[in-house]
Amino acid sequence: MPAPGPPLGMLAELTHRCPLQCPYCSNPVDLLKSDAELDTDSWLEVFTQAADLGILQVHLSGGEPALRQDLEALVACLAERGVYTNLITAAVTLSEQRIADLAAAGLDHVQISFQGTNPETTELISHYKGAHEKKLRAARWVRDAGLPLTVNAPIHRCNFDQVEQFVDLALELDADRLEIANVQYYGWAYLNRTALLPGPEEVARQAVFVEDARERLTGILNIDFVTPDYYAEYPKPCMGGWGNDAMAIMPDGTVLPCHAAQTITSLNFDRATDRPLAEIWNNSDAFERFRGTEWMQEPCRSCPRKDLDFGGCRCQALALTGDAAATDPACIKSPNHDALRRMATRASETGSGELIYRRIGSQGEPVA
Ligand code: SF4
Ligand code: FES
Repeated sequence: MPAPGPPLGMLAELTHRCPLQCPYCSNPVDLLKSDAELDTDSWLEVFTQAADLGILQVHLSGGEPALRQDLEALVACLAERGVYTNLITAAVTLSEQRIADLAAAGLDHVQISFQGTNPETTELISHYKGAHEKKLRAARWVRDAGLPLTVNAPIHRCNFDQVEQFVDLALELDADRLEIANVQYYGWAYLNRTALLPGPEEVARQAVFVEDARERLTGILNIDFVTPDYYAEYPKPCMGGWGNDAMAIMPDGTVLPCHAAQTITSLNFDRATDRPLAEIWNNSDAFERFRGTEWMQEPCRSCPRKDLDFGGCRCQALALTGDAAATDPACIKSPNHDALRRMATRASETGSGELIYRRIGSQGEPVA
C-alpha cells in the first residue's frame, strides 16, 4: 500500500466532562474521568507534533472543551503554528471575557450546539436548567468578538419539527453557517436509538424544506444538511475514509482513526504520549487496518463507489452486523440494508421515548 498523505484535520476531544447530558452524544458510553485527561504540556506537545505533521485544522471538542482552564494556551499554541482552530462547545459555561480571551489567543471559529429552538426543548434534551438563555447569550458574545459562528442543530425525534425555527434562530444570531445534522447513531445515540430515530416521512419533509431554504438564503446563511444514515441510499465516507485525511484524539491521548473506533475491540490503539504522532498515522496497525480499499469484502470490493465512500462507517458496520469489515448497512447494496430500514421505521413508530441521559459512570441507566 502506498504511504498515506498527511492528515488535514484533527478532532481533539479535550475532556469528556460536560455540564449537559444529551442522550445523542457521540462520546463513548464508557466516559473518561478528569484524572485520565492529558495535562497541558502533553496537549501542547500533541498539537506541536500535529502542526509538524501538516494538520491544517483542529476541532477542539469534548465533552465541553471550555471546562479545560488551559484552553487559551492550547488555542495559542495552534494559532502560532498557523493551524485553524474551531471550538465546538455547548457554550453554557462561556463568559463574555472568556470568549474575548479565546479570540485574543487566536481562535478562528466557534460552533455552538442548540438542542432545541426554545427553552423547554433545550432543557429536556440537555437536562440543564437555563441552558437555552445561556447559549443565546454566548452566541451573541461570539459575534461581538468578531468570530464567525456556526449553529449546530442535532436533529432527532424530539426536535425534528423545529427545523424551520432553527433557520430563524441562526439568522437571528447572525450565524454564518447552520448545520442541521440528523444524529448519527454512535455512542450514547446508539443506546438511545429507539427514542431518537425519526420516521422516513419526517426526514423526507426536512430535506425538501432545507433544499428550499438553502436556495432562498444563498449568500446570507450557509446551511449544511446531514441526513440520517439509516434512511440513506449510500453511506457517507465516514471521517473522509479511515486513516485518509483526519484523526481523533481522546482526552487521555489515545489516537484514533475516528471518534468511535474503540468500539472495534479487535484493534489496538496507541497513545500520543507513548509514540510519535507521525509514526501512529503512518505505520500503526489501527490506522492501516481499514485504510484504502484493499481490506474490503463484496459488494464494496467491486463497487464503482468504493473510492468515494470507502464502504461507509466501520463502527456502524460493526455495531449493526458484528463485522467491522462488512459493507455499512446504510448502503442499499448491503444485505442488511432492508432490515436496518425496517428497524428504524419501527423504532420511529413504536419506540418508548424514554431517554438515557449521558453521565460519567452511569453506563447507560435511564434517568428517573
Ligand atoms: Fe459504498 Fe460499498 Fe455501498 Fe459501494 S457497496 S456504495 S463502496 S458502501
Ligand atoms: Fe468510526 Fe465511522 S465512526 S468509522
